[in-house]
Amino acid sequence: MSGSLSDNPGLPKKLPSRRSTLAVHIRVKSPLMRLALYQPDIPQNTGAVLRLGACFRVPVEIIEPCGFPFDDKRLRRSAMDYGGVCDMVRHTSWEAFLEAHQTGRLVLLSTAGATPYTDFAFTATDVLLLGRESRGVPDEVHARADARVRIPMAEGLRSLNVAMAAAVVLAESLRQLGILQGKTEL
Ligand SMILES: C[S@@+](CC[C@H](N)C(=O)[O-])C[C@H]1O[C@@H](n2cnc3c(N)ncnc32)[C@H](O)[C@@H]1O
Repeated sequence: MSGSLSDNPGLPKKLPSRRSTLAVHIRVKSPLMRLALYQPDIPQNTGAVLRLGACFRVPVEIIEPCGFPFDDKRLRRSAMDYGGVCDMVRHTSWEAFLEAHQTGRLVLLSTAGATPYTDFAFTATDVLLLGRESRGVPDEVHARADARVRIPMAEGLRSLNVAMAAAVVLAESLRQLGILQGKTEL
């Protein structure tokens, strides 16, 4: 297991961020799409998203502060050994994340989004941004997003689990980009 962010043409070369001891970076063969978690507060969900990122070869960016210590046992347990192969970057703040992402659209997944995710045309450089479990994202982050998409749900229900929402929209975006079709392995 080797490689670094600089091996990945889809990611900026210099990031004002720190790498986690949890992640051992891999070469991302097809750096399509990225997932970003805004100040996640449940370690098991972050672990599940790291596993998702590893399985789909999609980098995961964590916008801190998190609501748990990053060496949390629950995070490790949930990410299992997939945490070790996920290409992950931790950003110390929202501002640091923005500084690192000066190109590509920020597509916010939001229960307040006006566009059903299936009606949205994803591009390879999009970053799928997910809100924190307790409070979603603040207004400034909502406003800064280039697009806001919603996964339709049964009326009266509040929201999906954040890792489930990430999986639903990531799968659709990869499908649209032709990454999944006709393959049993990525
Ligand atoms: C548990 S939800 C947050 C709920 C929070 N109370 C709120 O009002 O946003 C965590 C994140 O999952 C994503 N999410 C959950 N359900 C969604 C849906 N139906 N459509 C789009 N995103 C969703 C969003 O990114 C959300 O910020």
